[in-house]
Amino acid sequence: MSTFGATPGGGVERQAASVADGENRAWFTAWLVENDFEVKVDAIGNIFGLIETVPGAPYVVVGSHLDSQPLAGRFDGAYGVLAAAHAVRAVAAGDAPARFNLAVVDWFNEEGSRFKPSMMGSAVLTGTLPVAKALATTDPAGTTVSEALDAIDGRGNFAGLDVAAYLEIHVEQGRELEDTGTTIGLVSTTWTAHKLEVVVTGEQSHTGAARMVDRRDALYGAAELIVAVRRLIDGFEPEQLHTAVSEMYLDPNSPVAIAREVRLLVDVRSPERALLETAVAQLRERMTEIEAVAKVEIEVRGLVEWSSGPFLEEGILLAAAEAERLGYTYRRSATVAGHDATNMKEVVPTVMLFVPSVDGISHNEREFTSDDDMVAGLDVLTAVVARVASGALSATDGDAIAMSVGDR
Ligand code: GLV
Ligand code: MN
Ligand code: MN
Repeated sequence: MSTFGATPGGGVERQAASVADGENRAWFTAWLVENDFEVKVDAIGNIFGLIETVPGAPYVVVGSHLDSQPLAGRFDGAYGVLAAAHAVRAVAAGDAPARFNLAVVDWFNEEGSRFKPSMMGSAVLTGTLPVAKALATTDPAGTTVSEALDAIDGRGNFAGLDVAAYLEIHVEQGRELEDTGTTIGLVSTTWTAHKLEVVVTGEQSHTGAARMVDRRDALYGAAELIVAVRRLIDGFEPEQLHTAVSEMYLDPNSPVAIAREVRLLVDVRSPERALLETAVAQLRERMTEIEAVAKVEIEVRGLVEWSSGPFLEEGILLAAAEAERLGYTYRRSATVAGHDATNMKEVVPTVMLFVPSVDGISHNEREFTSDDDMVAGLDVLTAVVARVASGALSATDGDAIAMSVGDR
């Protein structure tokens, strides 16, 4: 997989529906076919590999994502898809009594780097993002998701499936497991995140000739805002708030023109929703001050958010029991990054596992997880998939959720 979109520094670049993403998806699809999965692709480009052993029963779905950030690591998402495929294949070939069918999924556009928001494919399937809106989303060059998917032959007509449970394994992208010498993270909670699309508006003028007093420099306002976002953490306890300005476009971006407009993405996260709301309220106050100082307007035009919340306790205990039985060290983890499991846990019983990330580095070519840790993760994932597929999670006793790409 790492040969698709390989970068000179040992990473990959496979942004959603890029040529490299398309090549990787084609390779994965061929692998699924060779291994007797029935391959289905839905309207937002999610790829499913189905194994039906219990005719008509709902599915235990296991997966992650094959797309990547720009200049990214080899493990984020890709490990989870590959581990899911191997776990499902092993469980299907095993002789444990099955109560549910099995599916592997590669969610489309988890990363949200080329097309916002992140976790797009799972947001459509869980009904929080209408498929038409997702397909009409544009990248910075103006290409829509539907055009980009068509260019890699990435859209299908699979309507959806009944889901009994969802499982995902992922590299931790932090360094708690490494710091504590633990092999398996049992994801027990997720941080709250707010992603604000901010537009700073000034007035274009001459960089040399315009009087300083007359200038309405959007880039100056944006610079003040960037500093304010970083300094927001000063009023909070360590590790209670993570903040960043991650993306910026300016117009006209010309050597001899004061910027008339800057568009920024502000990312604020906290383990506590109330604390995050306090921080964002403080940031909005700073925005008002910056408007006056820089003589600009600052507008929040879009907000994507998800809430902190627990993962299913019964799933955590089940995964802990399997890690214990297999002799791996384990502990509860919080996920700060968003994952498709973050969407899925809102609608179906969901179990998420982590394996260690060396130095906690991710979204970087240097991202690394050892073979031993990946194999340990696969062992535990396979064991948990087997248990869930045979009905060990009483949370799956309720009605399975019908998940489809249709607007709801
Ligand atoms: C998604 O991957 C996020 O953490 O924003
Ligand atoms: Mn990921
Ligand atoms: Mn990622």
